[in-house]
Amino acid sequence: MTQEQPRGQWASRLGFVLAAGGSAVGLGNIWRFPYATGQNGGALFVLVYLGCVLVIGLPILIAEIVIGRHAHRAPVGAFIHIKGEDSAWRIIGWMSVVSGFIILSYYSVVAGWTLNYTLMGITHFFTPCVDNVCAPRDPQQIQDAFGTLVAAGDINVFWHFVFMLVTVAIVLGGVQRGIEAWSRFLMPALLIILVVLMADAVLQPGFGRALGFLFAPRFDKLTADGVLQALGQSFFTLSLGLGAMLTYGSYLSKQSDIVGASTTIAVLDTAVALLACLVVFPIIFSFSMEPEAGPGLVFKSMPIALSMMPGSTLLTILFFGLLFFAALTSAISLLEVVVASVMEQVGWTRFRATLVMGTLIFVFGIPSALAGSGGVFASWSKIFGMNFFDTMDHLSVNWLLPIGGFFIALFAGWVMPEDARRGEFEAGSKARFLYLPWLWTLRLVVPVAILVLWLFSVGILSHDWLR
Ligand code: TRP
Repeated sequence: MTQEQPRGQWASRLGFVLAAGGSAVGLGNIWRFPYATGQNGGALFVLVYLGCVLVIGLPILIAEIVIGRHAHRAPVGAFIHIKGEDSAWRIIGWMSVVSGFIILSYYSVVAGWTLNYTLMGITHFFTPCVDNVCAPRDPQQIQDAFGTLVAAGDINVFWHFVFMLVTVAIVLGGVQRGIEAWSRFLMPALLIILVVLMADAVLQPGFGRALGFLFAPRFDKLTADGVLQALGQSFFTLSLGLGAMLTYGSYLSKQSDIVGASTTIAVLDTAVALLACLVVFPIIFSFSMEPEAGPGLVFKSMPIALSMMPGSTLLTILFFGLLFFAALTSAISLLEVVVASVMEQVGWTRFRATLVMGTLIFVFGIPSALAGSGGVFASWSKIFGMNFFDTMDHLSVNWLLPIGGFFIALFAGWVMPEDARRGEFEAGSKARFLYLPWLWTLRLVVPVAILVLWLFSVGILSHDWLR
């Protein structure tokens, strides 16, 4: 009875590319990628990451869309449609829903920080004014502000709530009027902001050094751990492993070319990640700051550097507004996986599924929002060795995503009927000759690579011998 609700569909191929591109482009590109690149010495890390996107990310991206469009269902329904009601594959589908739920619950907390920082920019926190004369705040105070924010539980819960509210409002609108319409506005806006910031970065004295850092590999810098991070990053940044792209693919019309669209999405995502580095590093180098600052790079070092630049208020607002837009289009896709699956499997309307699941995700995210404030959840850290936020991040990125990606590759490569798989791959495509290379990469290279990555990242294989 659940299939009788009319299914959403993208109004155009461009709408799909912008929505899926919006899912891919997120905090992973602008917050995570620059600091991971900085920590791992630059160019060589970038090179390994590009290789991972091409050899592992792109084939899985195509696989997810192939499964989704063929089955015309969200994850759980897709596996059931292809393999039958009591197939064990439906467990993988439910795992996707749980992963989407968990990731969104803490992703929304980080996204909340971008709102707080945008507001700090608007209220001149970084450049306090006395009698209309504004001057950069003491760098130490700007750094400390991040710690103060993370420790302020109530403020984190508030922004987490606001961010979830916006995400729910967009997903309530459905595929065309909600997700596609907003992606059509947010993605171009994001690209324009990025180009404006980039034009400014080109003029910085540190631009030359940044180019060298990003594109001239020094072979002593990359560790085995860096290779694993590059692999994990390629997964996370393309939104793979939990059926987000599968769900978006299920709304794609049968005539659209999947290979071409996937390539465009991967190129767009990679371009934004590299552009984000070209915005961040020239500014960091111009003010003689450290590229290895870690997760604080974007929330501590960038505001300090921005505060000292001409037009700092506008630049700060643009930069954190950019982060917010990027986070929003990604969060939408995470919520949509959960909502679409509940609609299909439980038979709820979009309205009900979105409100109920959005509320549950908000509630489940509260411990992550409070994680930095110690207090109530301190004993959690004692038991698990890390706070609630980090536990959720670790659980999803190191366990659920690689396991999901592994089974999606096996399913598309070995389980799905050949004619269905081939038909989806070739429909509308000019690159039919890539079918067999894609299939065998998916069948062999991808599962082996994921297995090795995963064994390393959960510490079952020690990587000392690689050093
Ligand atoms: N790709 C997004 C980013 O780079 C995050 C994201 C959105 C995601 N949807 C996903 C990650 C699904 C894994 C799975 O920030």
